Amino acid sequence: MSDQPTYYLTTPIYYVNDAPHIGHAYTTLACDVLARFKRLDGFDVRFLTGTDEHGQKVEKSAQAAGMDPQAFTDKVSKNFRDLASFMKFSHDDFIRTTEDRHIRACQAIWKKLEEAGDIYLDNYGGWYAVRDEAFYGEDELTKTADGKRIAPSGAEVEWVEEPSYFFKLSAWGDRLLAYYEANPDFILPDSRRNEVLSFVKGGLNDLSISRTTFKWGVPVPGNEEHIMYVWLDALTNYITAVGYPETETGDYAKYWPADLHMVGKDILRFHAVYWPAFLMAAGLEPPKRVFAHGWWTNEGQKISKSTGNVIDPIELINRYGLDQVRYFLLREVPFGNDGDFSHTAMVNRMNGELANDFGNLAQRVLSMVGKNCDGKIPTPGTFDADDLALLGQAHGLLAAVRALMDRQGFNHALEAIWVVIRAANGYVDRQAPWKLKKEDPARMATVLYVLAEVIRHLALLAQPVMPDAMSKMLDQLSVPTDARSFKALGEGGALVPGTVIPAPEGAFPRFLDEGST
Ligand code: MSP
Repeated sequence: MSDQPTYYLTTPIYYVNDAPHIGHAYTTLACDVLARFKRLDGFDVRFLTGTDEHGQKVEKSAQAAGMDPQAFTDKVSKNFRDLASFMKFSHDDFIRTTEDRHIRACQAIWKKLEEAGDIYLDNYGGWYAVRDEAFYGEDELTKTADGKRIAPSGAEVEWVEEPSYFFKLSAWGDRLLAYYEANPDFILPDSRRNEVLSFVKGGLNDLSISRTTFKWGVPVPGNEEHIMYVWLDALTNYITAVGYPETETGDYAKYWPADLHMVGKDILRFHAVYWPAFLMAAGLEPPKRVFAHGWWTNEGQKISKSTGNVIDPIELINRYGLDQVRYFLLREVPFGNDGDFSHTAMVNRMNGELANDFGNLAQRVLSMVGKNCDGKIPTPGTFDADDLALLGQAHGLLAAVRALMDRQGFNHALEAIWVVIRAANGYVDRQAPWKLKKEDPARMATVLYVLAEVIRHLALLAQPVMPDAMSKMLDQLSVPTDARSFKALGEGGALVPGTVIPAPEGAFPRFLDEGST
């Protein structure tokens, strides 16, 4: 077996009741950036995404569309795959919960839970929100003026009464708390960890894990009157994809436990409470981390179909460009917090940070190399203190960015890169290489070399967020494609003087507002 370190990360699997929107694109984007970063950093990465195709919500949507649920899920799941390829997501696997491999895995984990004595048959009577596919206690609900009961998420609940299998979640509270205690970074950010801790400390009820009133799900082994609760089915996808129930060899042995489940804040409880409890009860290891990110609003408004302000990621990208949107979404807010999408904020970042700060830096330097150095990487002389300070900042960047990415601090990682971009712009202004052409061409060569080398560092490190623009920038520095991993940031990776570079081309166009909103 190779000793290359592994990194297994997952997105939630998306309900196929609806067209993909910005929220779905955001979760997968964050994972894509991390997957690309880890690959460039030498890891054997497994990046999983997919679609959650069972349950009452999907069944109802299929009925509303007048389609058979399988035909309906085939159609909607394809929209998610199309979005993934449009956004150039680099997932290694796309799982669908209607696949045979998944049904096998679900039934296998069920049997393990049953053998362990953690499942019993009883009757369920309680409130259920189809939109959230979640059960709620009476004390969690509020009543509207017309007497409807509403869950904290805003979803309407209905009374459900039926025979049901239960999972003995109440028995797992102490073991969950011990796991959180022993793994302080299991739930990030910390504010979310505290929420989960107080929820578990408040005492856990047993969880209803089967339904009998509809059919669209995985049959419970041994009692086909029941289908498995869609969240037990859905969460199991994370182990299906690494070959469960085979655990001794193969991908499970290699990749499990997952390094990261990336989720939105609304589905943290399922991932940080139910899922580790199911896994421990089945004798399997819990994942290493669950990160809960925040939600986007649109120009200050909650995004909802009824308001008609859903952001279609494809429209956004057609308007602003893929790398620009990727950059904005990860740069605009500290990852974990809620964020507001606005046209003004988007255009400001595109024009200020991408076109001006980064784009101009590369464009200015590369055109000077083109014009003043015969289109070849110049040969540097001795570096002075200003040169060494800037090179030092660039050389320190990988370690800083890596530490931030390891805690999913995407915006901080981008800020760290921009600190060096701004420092490089300051250096250009101070050194004024355009003046040196006549006065001191040898010094000009050193300054342009330092800048080209710093741009190489910046472009390499920004690849995970903006793969297309950075690949273009690296092409313009004639960095060979096999010298684009982070290994090339170490010794022996520096630009080779004399290398011919192509005529420069802007990596980031300015966005010219045509008077639209
Ligand atoms: N099917 C479940 C997940 C099962 S995982 C075992 C599900 N699907 S979902 O399609 O409703 O949501 C998927 C993700 O989209 C969640 O992480 C959710 O937080 C995210 N978002 C939905 N709307 C969002 C915003 N407005 N902003 C950011 N993310 C949001 O839940």
